[in-house]
Formats: sequence, structure tokens, C-alpha cells
Amino acid sequence: MQHLVKRLDRPIVLVGLMGAGKSTVGRRLARRLGLPFVDSDAAIEDAAGYSAAEVFERFGEQDFRDGERRLVARLIDGEVRVIATGGGAFVDPGTRDLLNHRAITVWLDASVDVLADRTSRRNTRPLLRNGDPKGTLERLAEERRPSYASAHIHVKSGDGAHRDVVDSILKALEDHLNGSEA
Ligand code: S3P
Repeated sequence: MQHLVKRLDRPIVLVGLMGAGKSTVGRRLARRLGLPFVDSDAAIEDAAGYSAAEVFERFGEQDFRDGERRLVARLIDGEVRVIATGGGAFVDPGTRDLLNHRAITVWLDASVDVLADRTSRRNTRPLLRNGDPKGTLERLAEERRPSYASAHIHVKSGDGAHRDVVDSILKALEDHLNGSEA
């Protein structure tokens, strides 16, 4: 794994919809690579003193997005590490552009059934508190697909073991680095 880490000169950033497994897979990926891990929602919470849901509720989605944009820009400026973004971060054109230029972006792509099942376990997502979480995920999947598809690496995230997803990312990272250095 060390040979891969030595070749990394930028952060690895996981993008994708709520429930795709960005935080869980990101944490495991970081552990395998021996790199630090940071979750952008958790960093917003640390900075704001409110959870993502509370920021939405108290200040509205626009304020959350503004804070998220500034925070992601700060996070990628630091050390080489693994960053899990909130599902909407990569939809912002400025953030997407920045990440695709200054990081290696990885789309964790999961079916709406898997996303609906995973997100139903916790009621922490403000966008899914409208009585039709599956319908919302279907709509967001459709709207956001073109943004997520611009990520450098695409990896399927099914309902199997997280370890397999991490293995797929490591393999794809190797290919990506070989391609970008060729
Ligand atoms: C959001 C995803 C959430 C969080 C906020 C908005 C989105 O993060 O940032 O609720 O717009 O998709 P996760 O993708 O980590 O659930």
C-alpha cells in the first residue's frame, strides 16, 4: 500500500448520494492507506456547533451550501488525506470544478433501493424528512447523476461488504495514477 500512498500528491474525495457509504467506506479506505480521514458534514458541525440538519433548519439550505463550499475548499488545501463530502457538495459547480482539478474524485454509485434502505436507519437527513424519502432519492439521483459522473473514478457501492468497495477503489486508484502519469 505504501507504494500507492507515495504517489499520491492530492486528497482522495468521495462523492455520491446520501447513503452511498461515503463516510464508512472513506474511513476504511483511509485506514488501509494509513492516511487521515475527514468527513465534511462532521467538520461543518465542528465549525458551526450545529449538525447539518440543524443548520438547514435554523439558517436554511443556502447558508449550509455556502458554508460547505468554503469548508471543502479549505479541506482540500491541507494534507493528503481521504475526505467524505456531503451528498450535495459536488453538485455545486465551483466545488465540483475545484475538486476535479485539485483532488482525485471517487463517485460511490449505489441503486436507489440500497440508498433508501441505508438512509431509512437514521432520521438525520433534512432533505429526506418530507414523507417520501425514496421518491426524493429517485429525483436527486436523476438530477445529480451528470455531476457525480464527472468524478475521475466510478465505483459501484451495493449492499455487499464495505471491504469489497474499498478494494475496488484501491484498484481504480492504481489505474488512475498509472493513467495520469503515463
Ligand atoms: C446532503 C447530504 C448530507 C448532508 C445534507 C445534505 C445532500 O450528507 O450534507 O443533509 O444534499 O445530499 P450525506 O451525503 O453524508 O448524507
